[in-house]
Amino acid sequence: MEKLTTVGSVRFKVREARAQGHTIGFVPTMGALHEGHLSLIRQAKADGGTVVVSVFVNPTQFNDPKDLEKYPRDLARDAALCEEAGADLLFAPEASEVYPEGYAAKVLVEGPLTRLLEGYFRPGHFDGVTTVVAKLFNMVQPDRAYFGEKDWQQLQVVKKMVRDLDMPVTVVPGPTVREPDGLAMSSRNVRLSEEGRKKAKVVPYLLDTAQDLLDSASREMLTDQGPVLRQWLMTLLESNAPDAKADYIAVVDPDTLFDVDEITDRALVTVAVHIDGVRLIDNRIIVRR
Ligand code: PAF
Repeated sequence: MEKLTTVGSVRFKVREARAQGHTIGFVPTMGALHEGHLSLIRQAKADGGTVVVSVFVNPTQFNDPKDLEKYPRDLARDAALCEEAGADLLFAPEASEVYPEGYAAKVLVEGPLTRLLEGYFRPGHFDGVTTVVAKLFNMVQPDRAYFGEKDWQQLQVVKKMVRDLDMPVTVVPGPTVREPDGLAMSSRNVRLSEEGRKKAKVVPYLLDTAQDLLDSASREMLTDQGPVLRQWLMTLLESNAPDAKADYIAVVDPDTLFDVDEITDRALVTVAVHIDGVRLIDNRIIVRR
């Protein structure tokens, strides 16, 4: 695996790989790699061609400067993990390479998709994501780009950007990878205290319970299962983790992310909860049976 830091060098290597008949799979990350990222790299490898992984902690997507400061960074560890998972090229540019002096462009997806949920609680976050992902796509020029379903809203926003701007890349989703107790893998998990780590189990518990709750709401012939479920899940959080603070617990359409009232086939339960000072997000598809 080769490590690259400049746009020129990644373009050169990608051109070389294409000349050998390879397609390009791309896994963008902010480092602090965990099994979730590694499964995307393996998925990209299994799809064939050359696999490029980027590690870049993108300052423009952090609405809270303290969050950016606290973001875990260990490039040597990330590089070893990338290599083990089968990456061919690691692209780890400095911030000045991505946003040189005088940089002024932005790529935005407008509308509810970026204003709801994460967009509401983290203003400007998706503007930073779409700008850096568009730039990384221009730098790497991949055929396929892999994004985890844990960041479901990000996945929808990136898909929309690609569709609306006719970007010649296929967005490939990867399933959420979980710890044995169900907690979704996240770079933020390392910031949980021992006590916080125990409390964090409430998040997968809520999502596991959501399907059962929908089953019983449907048996009771309720037509507005969405709001009922939201209320039940909020009560469940309050009773199981009284000091956790939910930014949102929502039951939404998986594509538009609009709240759903009647669940006729499937819905996405999505949550953002602060536990012990760490903000955790997770989601689960539930189906009407
Ligand atoms: O999901 C992430 O790690 C980041 O939002 C991404 C897609 C690498 C853009 O910085």
